[in-house]
Amino acid sequence: VLALHRHLSSDAKDVKTVTVFGAGLMGAGIAQVGAQAGYKVVLSDVTDKALDNGLNIISKSLARVAKKASPDDIEGYTKNVLANITVTTDAEKAVADSDLVVEAIIESIKIKRDLFGFLDKKAKPSAIFASNTSSLSITEIADATSKERQANFAGLHFFNPVPAMKLVEIIRTDATSQSTYEALREVTIKMGKKPVTCKDTPGFIVNRLLVPYMLEAIRLVERGEATPEDVDTAMELGAGYPMGPFKLLDFVGLDTTSYISDGWHKNSGETGLPPTLVETPELLAKLVSEGRLGRKNGKGFYDYS
Ligand code: CAA
Ligand code: NAD
Repeated sequence: VLALHRHLSSDAKDVKTVTVFGAGLMGAGIAQVGAQAGYKVVLSDVTDKALDNGLNIISKSLARVAKKASPDDIEGYTKNVLANITVTTDAEKAVADSDLVVEAIIESIKIKRDLFGFLDKKAKPSAIFASNTSSLSITEIADATSKERQANFAGLHFFNPVPAMKLVEIIRTDATSQSTYEALREVTIKMGKKPVTCKDTPGFIVNRLLVPYMLEAIRLVERGEATPEDVDTAMELGAGYPMGPFKLLDFVGLDTTSYISDGWHKNSGETGLPPTLVETPELLAKLVSEGRLGRKNGKGFYDYS
């Protein structure tokens, strides 16, 4: 029984290799803070182009971190962190030796479930699985895996930009084991983050409050009450936010924000979210359909080129 328990349960001291799926804004940042904390990190995405994009995000951010973390040996620090990161488009290889899998791919329940269903069969039984989803149910994602894995499954929600934002929300489902939860707390602390705990509810803590606020800012502009520039100035200087809602929307990604609101609106009956609070504003849908995704592709509510 003890051997079985050891086999199935997870312990923070056992986490050495972390695999991150998705080399976009979030995955790149999670891989970076993992590597900075001394973990061996495997970063995986579907194309080499996406991996190059991730490595590019990491090298820009690492230049800022290294200046502060190791002012006397920026080059050595950078080299050591990068030496902890390998990249691959082969999902099976990516998890072969993994102790912790963090998923940060597109915000789609189907694509996330497909990925975890596949990984469940390829990863070690003891590996912890975590999703960085902004808005989806962790229970519903975990349900694509075996009963044993569901005990090793939780939400691990980082914030953008990951290297600078200190918070991580740890989301426990009814099935998440205490040892998985404790292991994730230790990992996040080792990454220099402050963990908070939340039940598996739509948007957890931060996004349950932040997303309706950002959507209402768009509606305010749609109603012609103020310009995006004035709303941003108002919330920065009047409420002390580091970025107003339109800068933040561009920062988060307009596609990601509309995936969140579309999903919440569609499921508002089940989740109890008021439909009018989470409906995707027309202006947001229009910008996404025009390919204005935010800072990540140089244009959103504002132009960055
Ligand atoms: N990599 C590494 N370090 C970074 C960084 C990056 N990408 N971006 C900023 N930093 C660091 C800087 O080096 C700097 O550190 P020091 O003060 O120690 O020198 C610090 O962060 C502040 O940066 P700046 O001086 O360049 O600029 P700033 O003061 O305007 O801060 C910011 C930048 C931290 C991004 C700040 O504007 C901010 O907090 N914005 C709001 C971000 C936010 O709300 N994020 C959450 C989005 S919602 C989400 O993520 C959840 C979801 O599911 C959608
Ligand atoms: P992004 O668009 O920057 O990157 C997504 C990456 O996932 C892309 O590189 C894409 O190629 C890759 N991908 C898609 N399908 C894949 C698959 N099957 N296997 C491997 N890679 C795949 O998105 P992002 O902003 O990094 O968001 C990723 C996740 O993190 C989403 O669930 C999002 O809701 C969540 N999140 C986003 C933010 C934010 O501010 N942007 C903050 C916290 C959480």
